[in-house]
This record gives sequence, C-alpha cells and structure tokens, in this order.
Amino acid sequence: MLTGVSDDAGVYKLTDDLAIVETVDLIAAIVDDPYTFGMIATANGISDIYAKGGKPITAMNIVAFPSDTMDPVILGQILKGALDKLNEAGIALVGGHSVRNDEVRFGVAVTGVIHPDKVITKNGALVSDRLILTKPLGTGILNTALKAGMLPSDVRDRAVIQMSTLNDKAGQAMVSVGAHACTDVTGFGLLGHLAEMAEASGISAEIDSQVVPIIPEAREYAHMGLIPEGMYANWEFRASMVDAESIDEDTMAILYDPQTSGGLLIAVAPDKEETMVAALRNLGVESVVVGHMTSGLPSRIKVL
Ligand code: CO
Ligand code: CO
Ligand code: CO
Repeated sequence: MLTGVSDDAGVYKLTDDLAIVETVDLIAAIVDDPYTFGMIATANGISDIYAKGGKPITAMNIVAFPSDTMDPVILGQILKGALDKLNEAGIALVGGHSVRNDEVRFGVAVTGVIHPDKVITKNGALVSDRLILTKPLGTGILNTALKAGMLPSDVRDRAVIQMSTLNDKAGQAMVSVGAHACTDVTGFGLLGHLAEMAEASGISAEIDSQVVPIIPEAREYAHMGLIPEGMYANWEFRASMVDAESIDEDTMAILYDPQTSGGLLIAVAPDKEETMVAALRNLGVESVVVGHMTSGLPSRIKVL
C-alpha cells in the first residue's frame, strides 16, 4: 500500500506493523569546502525521514561530478563528509551512483522504517494547532552572501553548524510527544512549506513574524539584496494565498528564503505545546512557537 505520495517522503507499507519511508535529494555545492558540503547535503537529504517520524536505516550516495576537470580528491572529501554524517545518524551506506556532470551535485537517497499507523504527514494539522519551528531561517541568504565573498568566517561557521545539524533529535522529540503534522523547511522557505501544510490540511494558518527565529545577520544581507533567486520564485508562487500587507520586504525575503537543511515545522495540539517545546529542549533543540493553525477560508496564511 502506498501512502503520502506528495509528502516529504514516500511511504510503503510492508506489513501491518512495518512500513518503509523513502526520500531522495540532490543539491548544488553551497560551501567552498567539499567535506562540509558532503555533511550538509547528507543532513539535508536525511531530514525528510525525520519529518515523517521515521527512523532512517540505509542510504545511497548520488554524485554528479566533473571527473575530467576536477581533482578526484575533492570527490573523496565530499564522500567522507557524507559518510561521517551517515555514521552520526546511525545509517548504513549501502551503495551509490555517480555521473559525469559540468557542475558538482551531491545528495543521498535514504530509506527509513516506521509503523504504518504512526506516519506524520503534512495533512493532519487541526485548527488551533501550535506551529513549532526548530531552526532559525536565513541560510539561503547567507549562502548567497558567501558566494559573493561577503560573509565573515565566524558567520559562515555558525551557518555551517546549523545546516549540518541533523533533525534527528527534533524528530525524536516530535515522535515521543505526538504531533498532528510535520514537514521540514527547505527550498520553498517557511511560508512555502507552511502553505503546503495548510493546503494539505484544508485549513489556514497565522504566523507572527516578530517571533520567527532568524539568523541575526540574514536581515542585514537581505537588505543589501543578497537574496537567492529561489526566494523570488517562492514569493511569486504563494503570494495569492498569503496576507502580509504590513510586513517589510526584508522580513518577507527571510520568510520565503529557501533553506538548506532547515528545521522541522511541527503542528501540535495546543495542550501539548509546552511538553513539545520542553521535549525538544531536553534533547538540545531550541525551538520557537511561530504561530498556529486557524479556521476560516482554507489555505490562507496570515503574517502578523
Ligand atoms: Co521535505
Ligand atoms: Co526532500
Ligand atoms: Co549505478
């Protein structure tokens, strides 16, 4: 049986108490250091499994590499970063595939396991559910500043730590407390992924831009126009369902900023909000309640 086809990951039920969760992701090189890129691309790729409440068990590397012009040592470093991240996550590397390509791309295809009745999808959010976000926004903007050679090394290092941090603990806390819906915040930005959750759940949402966690420097770089192209596409795509009249452009750029290896966006019943935040904190995950689900016209996002 196939469930959750358009969700973060595909779910296939094997028996009454066992399903597999599968996902695949491939991204362009975002940092200058190949080892770090391998770690980030891998953390990014595994994330969809955690967002569904699954436990990742195996992975395969996917490599696109200019083998005729680039030193193979670089590829070795990417693969080492990936392997170290897989080991940290307790995932067995079982294979991979590579193709020659003009630009470097790397990712992983990951398989996880889950109880078929415990899959957390995007479509289960209920009116009044609290929305919890587990990583601050702004990595797309910082990556753009990095590419432009304008990012100080200490800011880069903090962004790297954030992007290579697994969502395993966040997933673990979510599963232990119980959530109605979850997705991970990646290429469509917070508003794009929240819009998907609202659409899938058939209700609306409201977020408070004043409390949304943001990497401090992201605002400054957004203001300087160091904004990834994906942000504009995200904004255009969702503009018709988002009410944000009083919100300034820099804030909107952050709310639509495509994230690499972003955090989980968790919809939890209001009476579980405190328990969830505490469970996350106990596992070392700082999270913020950024808004809640609302009734009214379906699939509207209000930004305050
Ligand atoms: Co996802
Ligand atoms: Co994905
Ligand atoms: Co092959």
